[in-house]
Amino acid sequence: MIFRQLFDAVSGTYSYLLASRAGGEAMIIDPVLEKVDRYLQLIRELDLRLVKAVDTHLHADHITGLGALRDRTHCITVMGENTKADVVSMRLAEGDRLTVEGVSMDVLYTPGHTDDSYSFVMGDRVFTGDTLLIRGTGRTDFQNGDARMQYESLFGKLLRLPDETLVFPAHDYKGDTVSTIGEEKRYNPRLQVKSIDEYVALMASLNLPNPKMMDVAVPSNMKIGLAQQEIALRGWALDAKNAIAMVGRPDIAFVDLRETSEREKHGSIPGALHAPYGDLQKNIGPGGMLREVARASDRRIVFYCAFGERSAMAVQAAQDAGIVSALHVEGGLDAWRKADGPLAR
Ligand SMILES: [Fe+2]
Repeated sequence: MIFRQLFDAVSGTYSYLLASRAGGEAMIIDPVLEKVDRYLQLIRELDLRLVKAVDTHLHADHITGLGALRDRTHCITVMGENTKADVVSMRLAEGDRLTVEGVSMDVLYTPGHTDDSYSFVMGDRVFTGDTLLIRGTGRTDFQNGDARMQYESLFGKLLRLPDETLVFPAHDYKGDTVSTIGEEKRYNPRLQVKSIDEYVALMASLNLPNPKMMDVAVPSNMKIGLAQQEIALRGWALDAKNAIAMVGRPDIAFVDLRETSEREKHGSIPGALHAPYGDLQKNIGPGGMLREVARASDRRIVFYCAFGERSAMAVQAAQDAGIVSALHVEGGLDAWRKADGPLAR
């Protein structure tokens, strides 16, 4: 197991790099834009391949590294389904699993600090974002924060994990790096309340100044999406309506880039091939499955994913690899569903 806790001193943010082995797939949680070069250097030094960049919530105190990491490594960007960040390529809900090779986390929806706050549980540890901090809890006075919801997230979910569970938060300003659920239950001053109303009153009495970066960070973090317009301008995009009209045509091969769990949960385009985004380079390279589909059967490949972000990167990669007829469905299955496209389960 490769596990690195990385720190941005300017915003007091912890980011976490995880992988199961050298040479394997990695994910990073809560990366900070200014530290992207450092992450990429470490990823190279540890011989890892970054496949997922994840934010626990929409941050107000720093600009996320998700967009820059996506642009530089073509990784998948991941947030919870309640986020208002524009195009995140994969959205998770409570009960889903966040995985890369050899690493699997359970997704918990833990709103309160923001309405898009999620925590990730992996065996002996939990990544709590700003829901549970070491001897503190995330503020609840902006970004649709809600002290009542946070109480439920804390007492109803996180504090029910085993006492020895390691707590890795998204921030610390005192120099602490890790705690445990049991330790926080006993010594976290915010958790020594006897009722939800007492917690709400405590949170309402804090009177914190807004974070310095808030006016910059929040708008910018809502727009980390890949510009799908650029792909459209090159003539490589289909809107959902035009794509729906192609279902069943023998000269068209829809290619689903999502993971199996996303297909099972949300359905897929009838007759589509499944070629997960993580295997793209293999599939479009010499002898690859998609290259053969395009060449031998002379079918036009139409990539799609959940929101159009993975497929926009895939169509660019396919074009670069010489599969010049490749297109993608703009807005992904989300747009397809809104346009009443048929779905197979
Ligand atoms: Fe936060």
